[in-house]
Amino acid sequence: MDSGGKQVTLQLLLAVGTAVIGSLQFGYNTGVINAPELIIKAFYNETWFDRYETPITKTNLITLWSVSVSMFSVGGIFGSFSVGVFVNRFGRRNSMFMANVLAFISAALMGFSKLAASWEMLIIGRFVVGLYSGLSTGFVPMYVGEVSPTALRGALGTLHQLGIVTGILIAQVFGMESIMGNAAFWPLLLGFTVVPAVAQCCLLPFCPESPRFLLINRNEENKAKNVLKKLRGTSDVSADMQEMKEESRQMMREKKVTIPELFRSPLYRQPMIIAIMLQLSQQLSGINAVFYYSTSIFQKAGVSQPVYATIGAGVVNTAFTVVSLFVVERAGRRSLHMLGLIGMAGSAVLMTIALALLEKLKWMSYVSIVAIFGFVAFFEIGPGPIPWFIVAELFSQGPRPSAMAVAGFCNWTANFIVGMGFQYVEEVCGPYVFVIFTILLLFFFVFTYFKVPETKGRTFDEISAGFRQSSATGAEKHPEELNSLGADSQL
Ligand code: GLC
Repeated sequence: MDSGGKQVTLQLLLAVGTAVIGSLQFGYNTGVINAPELIIKAFYNETWFDRYETPITKTNLITLWSVSVSMFSVGGIFGSFSVGVFVNRFGRRNSMFMANVLAFISAALMGFSKLAASWEMLIIGRFVVGLYSGLSTGFVPMYVGEVSPTALRGALGTLHQLGIVTGILIAQVFGMESIMGNAAFWPLLLGFTVVPAVAQCCLLPFCPESPRFLLINRNEENKAKNVLKKLRGTSDVSADMQEMKEESRQMMREKKVTIPELFRSPLYRQPMIIAIMLQLSQQLSGINAVFYYSTSIFQKAGVSQPVYATIGAGVVNTAFTVVSLFVVERAGRRSLHMLGLIGMAGSAVLMTIALALLEKLKWMSYVSIVAIFGFVAFFEIGPGPIPWFIVAELFSQGPRPSAMAVAGFCNWTANFIVGMGFQYVEEVCGPYVFVIFTILLLFFFVFTYFKVPETKGRTFDEISAGFRQSSATGAEKHPEELNSLGADSQL
């Protein structure tokens, strides 16, 4: 296969395919607790009764369940923040390999929690697999970006989000009652995370270390060259080597920027605020309220087969991620992000209407399905994939690693807030719970309109030049002006 003069070799496919097993794990564990909610709650109830000889109260059950769901994102917060410690010391491939220890531990904890009559084991297991997933959100995009030829970097990079949504879908299908979403097999459903871990451990030894890491961090030119030859399927890799050496030189010229510096320097403040707001817009849109709790949302909306509706949401989610893959380079990030946010806001309003009228009009349960499908589809058009890769585009080589750590931290923290808070807020707001997301979505839409510049088709240099000039004049710039500033500086 040849794409724009760049070969997709078996070795490259193997490397990328093995890495995105990490994204799949992240998605699987995002979606896995959705379908079996009632069954596992029944287990909590029984265990509580055996221990304390009284049934669990509603509030205690909500608390235990919300903690079980959101411990995953607490793990993610710590994991995403520790990426730098691993990748530079052990290399990208070995870091991915080592992280699987966490997947094994978590599978054992969750898989045996029923046998041990311990919800504590399940909760700790969720935390540990969250650590793994947080690390993956750093390792995978980095490794994939570094082994891919420049011309394919964008397309292969989006495979991270595709891995995530596929993982969610697999978890939803396995969560059907007839498969593993039942009282007997739910521990297997949670413990299944061991299977991708074994697969990744078997495949990683056949994958190369990142040539960029070998050359730039380790200065092992020959090894880097050999890896590149295999990845590219050609013995002439001088152009790639040249480009990597240039990157290395640039890195030496540009000093590493620490996280505190990132916030202090007026140069980085504006792109940093934009990066953080985009992460927040992804999570506070409420998407994971759907992926953690849709089965119970559908149930409350009177849908008779809530698990099938949840799987439907997973299918729509995957389909629209593929759509986004094809349009993102054509339509541009800023416009797709705005379209996604406004479409989600519209769907959230529809959902509110459906829930509010449910008592009077039974067929509103179908409207709620349409609303959730629309919500998910618009999410994947923009707010799903774009925040993950735009951070790298907004920063140059020096500040990029720190900026990505901060962005990851904000993303996972907001993920935690939604996972932990949703069921409580739903108790208080009833059918109006989606109004909160509507307001947030509209706010992020306005922010994107006024503050986020288009990055499509512009080099990293042009983008940062745009920010440099606007911070030098001290003036607040509209994104259109930022764009033209970046372009001017290239003349
Ligand atoms: C994004 C989000 C993740 C969410 C997923 C849904 O990857 O980061 O939290 O579950 O999209 O598709």
